[in-house]
Amino acid sequence: MDDLRELVGLKRAAPRNTAPREESYLPRHVAIIMDGNGRWATQRGLPRTVGHRAGVEALRGVVKAAPDLGIKILTCYAFSTENWKRPKDEVDTLMNLLLEYCRLEAETLHKNGVRINAIGRIHELPAAQQQEIARAVALTRENDRLILNLAVNYGGQAELVDAFRSLAAEVKAGGLEPEAIDAAAVRRHLYTADLPDPDLVIRTAGEMRLSNFLLWQSAYAEIWVTDVYWPDFTREHLEQALRDYARRERRFGAV
Ligand code: IPE
Ligand code: IPE
Ligand code: MG
Repeated sequence: MDDLRELVGLKRAAPRNTAPREESYLPRHVAIIMDGNGRWATQRGLPRTVGHRAGVEALRGVVKAAPDLGIKILTCYAFSTENWKRPKDEVDTLMNLLLEYCRLEAETLHKNGVRINAIGRIHELPAAQQQEIARAVALTRENDRLILNLAVNYGGQAELVDAFRSLAAEVKAGGLEPEAIDAAAVRRHLYTADLPDPDLVIRTAGEMRLSNFLLWQSAYAEIWVTDVYWPDFTREHLEQALRDYARRERRFGAV
């Protein structure tokens, strides 16, 4: 804990309204929009697909560092519901990398106490990808050092549509009155029903937008954007984000 206090500069700056728990200076749930793989490759005169492969390496590094930095949940945006619009060879590469990552990395993640979870319209993925994800999830389900939550074929709007559909089905079946639908009821139907909201959303490659990521859950998340392309993102960048987070004052609408 002392190391972590040092890391976030607690001895220098203390946000005044956070809970007295020391842990509150550290984000429990960090969500990352891993962007810029294509630009990273183009800048080097390489095909975009090479950038995606380099992006997987960056993911490995961050997943390794996260638990040491006090992060309990790491949600990573790997493929959006809109990314199907990309050229077929790029989509194929991304799907293959997903398969490879689950196949080759699950054992290592398991040894490191990482629990793998996936959010998104997983049932719309090709069968092989669904199977590998299910295997990785089953293998690691008892682990509790870090939850690695992979957002695959994920879209915030699709998630809300799915939530409203199942709420409507409950109403139709007579199990729920429309007046009983509140924020907590919506939350129970999200893919992230079992997870706390992200405290910190990191976006690489400089774009100042959410691109359909965790729309409901990010309502009060702190947002941190860096120009660094995802394949170049390292533990040091993550540490910088945590230091900046520790200096933010979260108000949640209060004074
Ligand atoms: C992020 O990198 C990876 C995915 C969206 C799957 P991009 O492929 O979006 O890279 P840029 O934004 O084109 O540089
Ligand atoms: C968001 O990045 C999706 C992922 C990182 C998986 P995009 O590259 O798809 O977002 P836009 O197109 O710049 O908004
Ligand atoms: Mg992009």
